[in-house]
Amino acid sequence: MRVKKVLTAIFPVAGLGTRFLPATKSIPKEIMTLVDRPLIQYAIDEARAAGIKEFIFVTSRGKSALEDYFDSAPELESTLKKSGKEDLLEVLKGTNMDSGAIVYIRQNRPLGLGHAVWCARRLIGDEPFAVLLPDDVIAAEKPCLQQMVEAYAETGGNMVAAMEVAPERTSSYGVLNIGEDMGQIVKVKGMVEKPKAGTAPSNLAVIGRYILSPKVMTNLNRMKQGTGGEIQLTDAIADEVADGNVFGYRFCGQRYDCGSKAGFLQATVAFGLSRPDLRDEFSAYLHDMAASQKTA
Ligand code: G1P
Repeated sequence: MRVKKVLTAIFPVAGLGTRFLPATKSIPKEIMTLVDRPLIQYAIDEARAAGIKEFIFVTSRGKSALEDYFDSAPELESTLKKSGKEDLLEVLKGTNMDSGAIVYIRQNRPLGLGHAVWCARRLIGDEPFAVLLPDDVIAAEKPCLQQMVEAYAETGGNMVAAMEVAPERTSSYGVLNIGEDMGQIVKVKGMVEKPKAGTAPSNLAVIGRYILSPKVMTNLNRMKQGTGGEIQLTDAIADEVADGNVFGYRFCGQRYDCGSKAGFLQATVAFGLSRPDLRDEFSAYLHDMAASQKTA
């Protein structure tokens, strides 16, 4: 199938991050670090690996640290250069964005994820686009969005990342009603945002990676209020199922919910252990810690 390339990604980062107060009183949640990189850097790296060239951040008041993070830092760079710290200069380079490659849009009222995405409508035009929710950090050999872009080349339409969750957890997610299960890819015949306990159509949950057609943006124009009184992205995608245009993609990888404290801690341990420079010392520590917990 010939599909248009996905070159633009939207990163909704307007949330207040209240679950991480007081830390988020003065720093955006997306700047909180997993080992030594802010959450948002993981999402950006994943988008880049998938071929994304334009990055749209939907922000809100109090998020200016995010803009600074992606700007060049001339003083820091020249200090590192003078002291011959080439490795750190390389690390810094990965955070710089070319002028014009990154756009910030304000969502001035918290009306929901669908509304946040809709705020970027004028920049999307008639092109497909990706949406990445930085709270969902996915460790994978091939980055999740890249896996999806490859699958999308075969399906076209709209694609959402999907993962089986425990039945008692479905009420925290968008949940897919499966039309046809083809293994890694499922054809979707319905989607429900945060279904009430016992009413979920399956336990296949939507995880925060999407490839969407511009039609979804048009659907968002209706500003339909959904679960929690919010304008839900799930509903705007669900409007497309009748045309057989929505697919769920069971990605390969481990997802961490960094929007929750427990998920953030799990991700910290997993990413710490995956780092060659930390692995030995950190795993020895965890080992001793686990042993001392047992004897206590
Ligand atoms: C959002 C989406 C939901 C999805 C989830 C994945 O919910 O609305 O459909 O399953 O992200 O993390 P949130 O967690 O922002 O409430």
